[in-house]
Amino acid sequence: MKVNEKKVSPSSVIGTASIDLMGETVELPIVEGSEGERAIDIRTLRKRTGYITLDDGYTNTGSCESAITFVNGEDGILRYGGYPIEQIARSTTFPEVALLLLQGAPPPARELKRFSQKLTEHAMLHEGLRHHFVGFPPEAHPMAILSAMINSVSCYHPDLLRIGDEEHLLDAAAKLLSKVRTIAAFSYKKSLGEPMIYPDAERGYVSNFLHMMFSKPYTEYEPSDEEVRAIQLFFILHADHEQNCSTATARMVGSSGANLFASVAAAVCALWGPLHGGANTNVIKMLEKIHEGGDSLSATIDRVKRKEELLWGFGHRVYKSSDPRVKLLRKACHDVFQAKGISDPLLDIAQELEQIAVKDDYFVERKLYPNVDFYSGILLRAIGIPLNMYTVMFAIGRMPGWIANWAESWRHGSRIHRPRQIYTGSTERDFVPIDRR
Ligand code: ACO
Repeated sequence: MKVNEKKVSPSSVIGTASIDLMGETVELPIVEGSEGERAIDIRTLRKRTGYITLDDGYTNTGSCESAITFVNGEDGILRYGGYPIEQIARSTTFPEVALLLLQGAPPPARELKRFSQKLTEHAMLHEGLRHHFVGFPPEAHPMAILSAMINSVSCYHPDLLRIGDEEHLLDAAAKLLSKVRTIAAFSYKKSLGEPMIYPDAERGYVSNFLHMMFSKPYTEYEPSDEEVRAIQLFFILHADHEQNCSTATARMVGSSGANLFASVAAAVCALWGPLHGGANTNVIKMLEKIHEGGDSLSATIDRVKRKEELLWGFGHRVYKSSDPRVKLLRKACHDVFQAKGISDPLLDIAQELEQIAVKDDYFVERKLYPNVDFYSGILLRAIGIPLNMYTVMFAIGRMPGWIANWAESWRHGSRIHRPRQIYTGSTERDFVPIDRR
């Protein structure tokens, strides 16, 4: 493949839309994607008419064409590379999903083996990087550490700042995917004041992560198969979700020519926000408050309806009937509890809250249903992942999606992302120097 070859649009033009702009008629192409989604292609609109479109929050704007992930929010469908998430969740591993997203097809066994070997080889951090952790205060948020450390990793791999070909990209992807796991575990150990635990080359991706999180120099942590399966599922279900806030950020930053590490570090920051990946932490805080008797379910719902707070883990920009990941996560919670012989009152509270909300007019009218963050924290709690690491877990899971989207844009040579605005400030006026103001 030729790098940065200019893309010929793969969507088909199926007709034209006529727009009446205060008496002037403009014809614009209508394009259709492979799943029948249609868009009015406005790329030439301003050049031809002087008009732009205004779309705060990009509710109705397609920022790119992408062949990676398909979401149909009306019917609750999610597919990676055409494969339904339910099948992916049942039959794959996280490294396999990462390759599927990056390369567009499930990898042959030998390719997956080679990639898994790369993940093992690159799990270590340069000793210089290990010393960076000393500089963070004990209470530093692990998302701040993760973003800073991803940029720091790039300082030790200057050869990866400019990707040359597909093999080079694969190498960068393996290094990123492998090292974020080590960074996440080291930041947790740092917050506890415990020694960092080095990766173990005999373990798979998830088991190695849990080992670095929970082993101590004098006790080796051995996760059960159920625990490994649960975290694997968590990562897979978070692996990609088309043009969400953090993925769009990775693409936007990358569109300036910024390297993969800088783009992904920016995506981590976008994910941190409570309206995005940070919601998984707030869901648990909300459920804990109810459990501790601070709040009844109905009082919580009433406050949400008075708009005094959000029902965390509810609502989605795209899903308007159900998020298919929710069912899989809810079931995974039950499976892990059963396997471990434990229970968690927060799961009962969450299920009750969901039942109340989905029958309440406020939520029905606004098409608000549980999203991926509603049950994911309960699953993480069952494995012993601490609350301040939940969004980091999301970030590790979303890493393949960020890399794949950055790579798609790099392959096709995207234009710099540069939205316009409608200026509403003062019109021209004369500046008055400070002594005369
Ligand atoms: N609780 C209460 N009301 C809500 C919620 C919620 N969780 N979500 C949306 N609404 C209300 C809005 O107040 C608005 O009401 P209005 O019509 O009376 O003004 C209406 O529903 C439409 O909501 P918008 O804010 O326009 O929806 P938008 O698409 O902009 O936002 C978002 C989507 C950010 C996910 C929103 O639903 C939300 O804040 N949810 C809670 C946070 C959350 O769980 N985020 C994780 C999302 S999934 C992810 O990023 C991984």
